[in-house]
Amino acid sequence: MDEKKIILVSVSDLVPGMIVARDVYTRNNQMLVPADTKITESIIARMTFFGIMSIRVFASELEKNIVDEEEEMYMTQQEKEDFAVFKENYELTIDHLSENLNSLLKTADEINTDELVENVDKLVFQSKSRYEIMNMVHHIRAFDDETYRHSLNVAMINSVFAGWLGMTEYERKQLTLCGLMHDVGKLLISKDILRKPGRLTEEEYEQIKKHPLLGYEKMKDKNIPESVKRVILLHHERADGSGYPFGFRLNEIDPYAAITAISDVYDAMTSNRVYRHGMSPFDVIEIFEKEGRKQFNPMFLVPILNNLTNTYLQHYVELSNGMKGKIVLINKNELSRPMIATDDNQFVDLLKQRDIKITQVR
Ligand SMILES: [Fe+2]
Ligand SMILES: [Fe+2]
Repeated sequence: MDEKKIILVSVSDLVPGMIVARDVYTRNNQMLVPADTKITESIIARMTFFGIMSIRVFASELEKNIVDEEEEMYMTQQEKEDFAVFKENYELTIDHLSENLNSLLKTADEINTDELVENVDKLVFQSKSRYEIMNMVHHIRAFDDETYRHSLNVAMINSVFAGWLGMTEYERKQLTLCGLMHDVGKLLISKDILRKPGRLTEEEYEQIKKHPLLGYEKMKDKNIPESVKRVILLHHERADGSGYPFGFRLNEIDPYAAITAISDVYDAMTSNRVYRHGMSPFDVIEIFEKEGRKQFNPMFLVPILNNLTNTYLQHYVELSNGMKGKIVLINKNELSRPMIATDDNQFVDLLKQRDIKITQVR
């Protein structure tokens, strides 16, 4: 029998069907995924959630599991047209953002932050509903520089979350700016590391983990809001102390950083993944529901998850047993398991029928 080669693969490059070669543990040494597990989209989402950056898989499984990149968009003609407009503005905003962040990193002491936030607002408010904006965010494909795309997404998600959390207009704009700038430190990390496909050494990962401190160091004397500087420094801290760079806990983490942390993980888990390969947003809601209470401040997480789930009310879903129907009722005790009215006039209560799950949302 031939020995299977084991390689280290970045979690963002994992493809369903690969086989885990070594047990995967969280930073707190909890077993997350045992060796020999076949990778699914929801396992990838779980690992992203826990901030796992790379795992070891069997190399021989790689080639034959390359998934067709062609994505089904599940969009009507009108939605496609709206999306085209959105995408154009999105790309202009990305250019503007990268110009500004770079000038700030090089020589500028300040930038026009109002203008940056206005650009994001245009994107957010041109969308007809909060559901639509979250949907658009999911459909945006990777740009040359992943950091800008991710930053803009987190800014838009922050803006939506601010509305859900009942924040003032001033706070919403601040939080939007926090999203735009939270990963500025990543622009100081070698592109060879950030863009390197597949294998990353432990040292390279340690380099990436320096981005909050590097970003803060560069920004601390610039004329930008203090709250933004704190978010740059603290957005990888977690309420249970499992984050970095300091291992701060619940009340030591600024509210803006705590909210941006949720948006950050949400974007990482959903971008380019939800709606592909059979992963539904309810997988993401389930992971946040089960695991998030420890890592994220419930004062923010609970209302965000409630609102997120509510955006899918009346949406059409497919179930793992092949049935199709509409979400008619959200179960408050378990948001990821709503009640479905099926096309053949039955009610499926996912709270009771635990062997069935939502596989697709339209
Ligand atoms: Fe970050
Ligand atoms: Fe981020």
